Amino acid sequence: MLTIVKMNEENVEQAAQVAAQCLREAWSVETCRKQLTNPNDTTLVAFEADKAVGFLSCWCIAGEAEINNVCVLPDHRRKGIAKAMFDKLAELLPDAQSWVLEVRESNTAAIALYESLGFSPAGVRRDFYEAPTENAVIMVK
Ligand SMILES: CC(C)(COP(=O)(O)OP(=O)(O)OC[C@H]1O[C@@H](n2cnc3c(N)ncnc32)[C@H](O)[C@@H]1OP(=O)(O)O)[C@@H](O)C(=O)NCCC(=O)NCCS
Repeated sequence: MLTIVKMNEENVEQAAQVAAQCLREAWSVETCRKQLTNPNDTTLVAFEADKAVGFLSCWCIAGEAEINNVCVLPDHRRKGIAKAMFDKLAELLPDAQSWVLEVRESNTAAIALYESLGFSPAGVRRDFYEAPTENAVIMVK
């Protein structure tokens, strides 16, 4: 069964491990732990049984919610876990009026996810990413 909870002292290491397995520029466990005292942060961890499989981090300031990172372990993809984390996030942030994120231009899976959630492209930041250098697409909702 899928459960989605806020990141906390008990699951912060598992959360960081999920991010490390999926993301090139994953937050370290120290950076994840710092978020526990960041009043603007909402980071969610998805569990299948006892295994952490998904990670979603967002900072919401003055009604603007910025997605920092989202990922799901490769063996658990296309089962609706990312969508379920976004649904939970929206539930926890009822005051968010606008949503923004950036994504590598070549990341077709993530772009498809964001489009399926109602995000649309709003602009491009040239050469925003490194190793490899790539444009970022800014998407908003
Ligand atoms: C992007 C990512 C988070 C999607 O997670 P997921 O749990 O597999 O996504 P979901 O199952 O909730 O997908 C919801 C919808 O998004 C779209 N989608 C997701 N992955 C897709 C893919 N690989 N190809 C096409 N559409 C996709 C589909 O519309 C999907 O609905 P459907 O399965 O009913 O067709 C996952 O692929 C991932 O962790 N990628 C590596 C990390 C990453 O790139 N993160 C984004 C950084 S900006």
